[in-house]
Amino acid sequence: MNRIVTLDEFIIHRQKDFPFASGELTGLLRDIGVAAKIVNREVNKAGLVSILGVEGSENTHGEQVQKLDLYANDKLIDCLKNSGECCGIASEENEDFVQMPMLESKNSKYVVVFDPLDGSSNIDVNVSVGTIFGIYRRKSDSSGPCELGDFLQKGTELVAAGYVIYGTSTILVYTTGRGVNGFTLDPSIGEFCLSHRDIKIPNRGGYYSVNQGYYLKFDVEMRRYIDYCSDMNLRLRYIGSMVSDIHRILFQGGIFLYPNTRKYPQGKLRVLYECNPLSYVVEQAGGKAINTQLNRILEMDVTDLHMRSTIVIGSPDMVDEMKEFVERYSVPSVNIG
Ligand code: AHG
Ligand code: MN
Ligand code: MN
Repeated sequence: MNRIVTLDEFIIHRQKDFPFASGELTGLLRDIGVAAKIVNREVNKAGLVSILGVEGSENTHGEQVQKLDLYANDKLIDCLKNSGECCGIASEENEDFVQMPMLESKNSKYVVVFDPLDGSSNIDVNVSVGTIFGIYRRKSDSSGPCELGDFLQKGTELVAAGYVIYGTSTILVYTTGRGVNGFTLDPSIGEFCLSHRDIKIPNRGGYYSVNQGYYLKFDVEMRRYIDYCSDMNLRLRYIGSMVSDIHRILFQGGIFLYPNTRKYPQGKLRVLYECNPLSYVVEQAGGKAINTQLNRILEMDVTDLHMRSTIVIGSPDMVDEMKEFVERYSVPSVNIG
């Protein structure tokens, strides 16, 4: 029987890959693992909300019941705050970045960005949701507080990224730029155990993933590409939580698209909390991620904490094919006068 390797053991072992590592990054990844276990416990209890109380009410213990994405946000911040391993965080749930207490985070070199609960509209109907995270090395001087510029970095600057999927089992997938590994939570021992070593995305897959309900709101080349997917007999799968769609594509191959619509002319998904971390994971697994202007997601300039982008991500051959399609069908802009 193979010996079980826990997430903590794996992370510590991998620290040796970074010759000048001080253990801070290792500590951060462990903090995220702890927060994921706490969030997992609450996500699993979500169906009991009628017993424990609905959001905004008091539960049977007289405690205020919180929305799960805000709960997940608080737990992540608490875990990162306690360890003092990062100097600040930016979250989809916070308007501004949050500075960690100076005393605890003295001289820390990293900032963390996250979407605490992705696909949260699925919670009430027992469909998989997730947590997405990314870690950057700060740009500002480590003796002072963190600054906006520490967060507005391109995805190419990520030092680590990953996600946790709370599904039929709870799996944490992460990369530090040397391959992608997955860990499944064994509830009987409360540990994430290495279950998917060196994940590689298939070059192609049988699935495409897009909110086809918006078909008429997409640009013409995008509609043509979606028709092509359907003509090729690709199967449509769209969960409405990006983590879950990307997790399937990572293992079975396929393509995920969230193009611009009339409601979201720049695209809906957030660069810092969703597009960049997942693009880093997918690229590390051998996949590709671009926007509908056909530029690599990880090379986009990030100008705002809550900036949004279009995204096309997944199996490398399928992303390349989509790119050719758009190039062929794009309506050239006519210069009048
Ligand atoms: P969140 O729950 O963090 O707001 O993210 C939801 C995102 C993403 O996970 C998903 O793919 C997409 O929104 C679904 O959007 P549509 O309902 O517009 O398809
Ligand atoms: Mn999200
Ligand atoms: Mn969210």
